[in-house]
Amino acid sequence: MSDDFKRAAAVAALAEVQSGMRLGLGTGSTADHFIRLIGEKVAAGFDILAVPTSERTAELAGELGIPLSTLDETPELDLTVDGADELDRYLRLVKGGGGALLREKIVATASARMVVIADSSKLVRMIGAFPLPIEVVPFGLESTRRAIMSNASALGLTGEIVLRGGKETPFVTDGGHYILDASFRQIAAPEALSESLGAIPGVVEHGLFIGIADAAYVAGPDGTECLK
Ligand code: 5RP
Repeated sequence: MSDDFKRAAAVAALAEVQSGMRLGLGTGSTADHFIRLIGEKVAAGFDILAVPTSERTAELAGELGIPLSTLDETPELDLTVDGADELDRYLRLVKGGGGALLREKIVATASARMVVIADSSKLVRMIGAFPLPIEVVPFGLESTRRAIMSNASALGLTGEIVLRGGKETPFVTDGGHYILDASFRQIAAPEALSESLGAIPGVVEHGLFIGIADAAYVAGPDGTECLK
């Protein structure tokens, strides 16, 4: 059922796409629906140039015949459409469940407009139940983890900070970094947390997207809602 809602959100976002656009393509199961729909548009003759936010998305888009570019060749995009792990009604997002948060944030920020697509289970009153992904460099991992722990404790950290994949087989991002997942339960002051995490050496980026999304299509049993 939730997959039907993911697709419904992607269909709603498709209305924002016009031929001639330079698009950022997100990462994840919801974004995959949108990428397939873009593949159909390209097959039907739409002139689209797309920048993928991950190797995984690049592979799918390539298979579908979507013309691909990079931010070096195409540094300014018209629209990025991407999923989220959580969002609130102020369009503050938690992203990075799929491990692509760094490229996702760079691509979204290079876009005139970012639109989120999600099923209604992702829309929450207060973000934070989903552990916050924090991308870190492998060097100094334990020191960085401790610095995050001490900075974030004052900002609502309630649980563990876990290395994704574990010590033996850590998950490695497309940029060659690791991901620490930090449990907050509720993030009451996302802006302050974002600033605090961003100041820690060793933190490459974190999954709080604040002031980046312009709209969200959220689909559920009662239909599709557009948040602005
Ligand atoms: C990847 C992401 C995804 O957008 C997020 O994890 C949502 O994924 P899905 O659509 O599969 O639920 O941020 O880094």
